Amino acid sequence: MDLDQLAQTAAAMTQPSKGILAADESTGTIKKRFDAIGVESTPDNRRDYRELLFRSTEAMQNHISGVILYDETIRQTAKDGTPLVKLIEQTGAIPGIKVDLGAKPLPFCPGETITEGLDGLRERLTEYSDLGARFAKWRAVIDIGEGIPTWTAVKANAHALARYAALCQEQSVVPIVEPEVLMDGAHDINRCATVTEFVLKAVFQELYEQRVVLEGMVLKPNMVIAGKKSPQQASVDEVAEKTLKVLKRCVPSAVPGIAFLSGGQSDEEATAHLDAMNRIGGVPWRLTFSYGRALQAAPQRAWSGKPENVEAAQRAFAHRARMNGLASMGQWTS
Ligand code: 13P
Repeated sequence: MDLDQLAQTAAAMTQPSKGILAADESTGTIKKRFDAIGVESTPDNRRDYRELLFRSTEAMQNHISGVILYDETIRQTAKDGTPLVKLIEQTGAIPGIKVDLGAKPLPFCPGETITEGLDGLRERLTEYSDLGARFAKWRAVIDIGEGIPTWTAVKANAHALARYAALCQEQSVVPIVEPEVLMDGAHDINRCATVTEFVLKAVFQELYEQRVVLEGMVLKPNMVIAGKKSPQQASVDEVAEKTLKVLKRCVPSAVPGIAFLSGGQSDEEATAHLDAMNRIGGVPWRLTFSYGRALQAAPQRAWSGKPENVEAAQRAFAHRARMNGLASMGQWTS
C-alpha cells in the first residue's frame, strides 16, 4: 500500500470545481436509460454514448476529476481504436471502476439486500489496476420502510464495504465507499437523517475494524432528504443543514472528501443542494459530486442515439458539469 499515492488520488478526485462522473451503469441499468430515449442497448451504442461524454473536452478538462467505469467500458476502445481509458486520461481525469457485483436479496431479511462481489476481488483489482483504474466503487443499498433497515442488513453491508475498501487500499486503489440510503419511500427527512446516521456510524466502525486508512478513501453518501413519495418535501436549506449535521456526527475529519450521489433528485435539485452545503461550509472535508443521473439525464435526452445530436449532447453535459463544478465551490446561481 502506497499511502502517499492514495492520499494524492483522493485529493485529486475531490479537488475544487471538479467532481466525479458516475458512468458505471451496469448493462441492465444502461438498458433502462437507453429504453427511455428509444436507443437499443448494444455494445457499440454504449461505446458511442460513453465516448461522446469522454470527448466532451470542456466538461472533462474543467469539471470532471474522475470517471467511474463499468467492466465492459474499461475494456472498450473508441471508434478510432483509442482505449476509452486513454481518452479519459488525456483530459486529465482519473479512470475508476465499479467493482461490486450488485445488491442481492439478503436471506431472512425481506425487502433488504446485501451487495456481493468480495470473492476474487483481489485478483480483479489487480487486473483493473493494470487497465488504468486508480480508484474503485462499491455501492451498498439501504432501503427505508416499515421495520427496515434492520441491524442485520446494515451491519452486513457495512462489513462488506470495509472489506472491499481494505482490499482496494492494499493495491493503492482509492476506495469510494458508497452506502446509499434510498430516497424511494414515503418517509420524511427526519427519518432519512436517523437512518443515514445509523448507517454511517456502522460503516465507520467497520472501516476502523478492517484497518482502512481514512486519509486514502472517498465517501459517497446520499444527501439527507425526504422520500420521493413523501408529501412533506424539505427545502433546499433544510436538506443542506440536515445533511451536514449528520455528516459532522459521523465522518472523521481524516476523510479528505465526500462526493455525493444524486439518487434520483432532479438535475437542478442535486446542484442546488450541493451548492447550499458548500455555502454553509465550515466542514473539514471537500464536498463535491459523484453524479450519475444528475449529470447524464440531459445529455442522454439530447443525444437520443443520433450521431447528428452528439454536439448538442456534449453541450448539455458540459452545462451540468459546469453547474455542479460551481456548486462544489458554493458559487452556483440558478
Ligand atoms: P446517481 O447519481 O444516479 O445516484 O448515481 C450515482 C451512482 O454511482 C450510484 O451508485
